[in-house]
Order: sequence, then C-alpha cells, then structure tokens
Amino acid sequence: MGELTITKHVEYIKSLDKRKDLETALTEHLRMSGAYWGLTSMDLMGHLSEMDKEAIMVWLFKCQHDSGGFSGNVDHDPHILYTLSAVQILALYDELDAIDKEKVAAYISGLQQEDGSFAGDEWGEVDTRFSYCAICCLSLLKRLDKINIRKAVEYIASCKNFDGGFGCNPGGESHAGQIFCCVGALAIAGALDLVDKDLLGWWLCERQVPSGGLNGRPEKLPDVCYSWWVLSSLVMIDRVHWINKDKLKQFILDCQDKEHGGISDRPEDAVDVFHTYFGVAGLSLLEYEGLRPIDPAYALPVDVVDRIFYS
Ligand code: FPP
Ligand code: ZN
Repeated sequence: MGELTITKHVEYIKSLDKRKDLETALTEHLRMSGAYWGLTSMDLMGHLSEMDKEAIMVWLFKCQHDSGGFSGNVDHDPHILYTLSAVQILALYDELDAIDKEKVAAYISGLQQEDGSFAGDEWGEVDTRFSYCAICCLSLLKRLDKINIRKAVEYIASCKNFDGGFGCNPGGESHAGQIFCCVGALAIAGALDLVDKDLLGWWLCERQVPSGGLNGRPEKLPDVCYSWWVLSSLVMIDRVHWINKDKLKQFILDCQDKEHGGISDRPEDAVDVFHTYFGVAGLSLLEYEGLRPIDPAYALPVDVVDRIFYS
C-alpha cells in the first residue's frame, strides 16, 4: 500500500493562504469553510500549531455580524453553514469562550421553521444540511435547549426514504451528503434509533465501486469526498465492516499529489483543500497510522470533542 505524504500535504495547506489565483477567487465566499477544512486537516496530521492562529482569529471575528451569525468572508452575508465552520474553528483552537454563545444560538434558533426544519439564512432555503449545521453548532455551544429539538428530529425523520437513506427535503432522493447530515444530526440529538441501520448500511456499502472508492449515489463516479460522507455514516451506524477498508485506503492514497501535496477527487485530477480534508478525514476514520482520530458526527478531532464535553 502507498503512503500518506503528510509533509507535502502540510506544505500544500500552508501555501494556500499565500495564493491569490483563480481557485482562491472562485471560492472567496466560502473561505470560512475552507479555513475549517484546512485547519482540521492540519490538526488531524498533528501540525495545527504551524498556522497563524492570531491572524485567523482576527479575520474570523471580522466575519461575525450583529445578528450573531458568521459569513464566509468579510463583507459577505451570514449563513448557517459558515456559522458552523466558525464555531468548529473556535473549537479546534479551544476558543469557544471567546464568543457570545447566546448570540450565536439566537441566530440559529431564529432560523428554525414551524415544521422543525432550518433555513440556511434570511432568504429561507430549507435543507437537512442546515438541520445538521444547527444541531452540531448548538451542541458544541451547549445550547441545544434553544431550539425545538423534538420537532427538528421529526423533520429529519420525515426526510427518510424507502431505501433507508435521507434527502434534502421530504421526498428528496437519497444522497450520501444528506445522509451524513441526517445521521450526524440524529447521532448528536441521541435519536439514532430512528435510523434503519441494516437497510441504510446496505445502501451505503453499495457505494463502493471496484476501484475501492465510494460514490454518492448509484451510477455516479467515485469521489474522495464520499470517503467522508459515506464512511462517517457507516461508522455512526456501526456498519463500517461492510466495506473493504483496505481498498478504500488505497483509493484515497492514489488521489494524492505526492510531489506538490494535496488530494483530489479522483486519481490524476487537480487537488483542492476540500478533497484534501475529506481524504485525510477518511483515512483518519480508517485508523490510518500517524493521523489523529476524528469524531464522525462533529467532524472534529476526537480530543477536541472530548475537551468540550468531558473536561
Ligand atoms: C454533497 O455535496 C454533500 C452534501 C450535500 C453535504 C454537505 C454538508 C454540509 C455542508 C454540512 C457541514 C459538513 C461538515 C463535514 C462539517 P456536493 O454538492 O459535492 O454533491 P454532488 O457530489 O452530488 O455534486
Ligand atoms: Zn467531491
């Protein structure tokens, strides 16, 4: 089996901040999530201390709005996705006490709808991704009591399909990304009994293709990001032994740019920070030697989650 070129990936992530190219320009609005992907990868590889915490904190606080929500970058609009990324970054740095938790919780609870679902921002798009963001974020802030968690769980359950999977809204097609969100939210809410584990486990393990990689839906190409969406879901429902772990490890390792660092969606494609994170996080879930373990529901290193809940 190949080897994870940690030193190269660390250098790749460190170089991202200095780059001002097209990729950076295209993703400017989601920089908060990009920062979360990069910083979590660094932490999983044991190199978080090499990032400029001071500068990241100054920039992060510039992205918070009067409403309590965070935007993807300075001068953009707040969104629940970036609010979760900001809170996850604060958790990584053990700086959750540096924010007004009540205010952030008020922003999130204000996005809950009558039926228990969540809108992503003031414009009102509803999606189970936002249910996950709300529940994960409030749990990290220890403010789950600020929403109607029973209704939130009921809404997620209403998005369950005949195949055991979940979609973005009731009736929406099962998709591994949404499954991660729904299973993760239910895990955090202590409601995993609502998941049909054998049925869902079957659908999820069918995502492995002959190359060892995982796809997100039937007939789609494998992609390293599904090493996270599918695998974390399998871990949460205790069915990870239903896939070939060694073949998946090999697929992820084959997607590395061993010369310049970074991981891509498929072998030979261009690398980006998103797939670098999901590759490293996937290998961490597969207990790859030299990586710190990641929590499948919170998508944060296990010791970060333990520090919040058990110290
Ligand atoms: C597929 O994306 C992924 C999803 C629908 C899930 C997204 C989940 C979040 C943003 C919640 C936060 C996540 C973490 C890890 C903390 P895609 O648009 O690439 O799907 P496609 O492959 O079908 O295009
Ligand atoms: Zn992908």
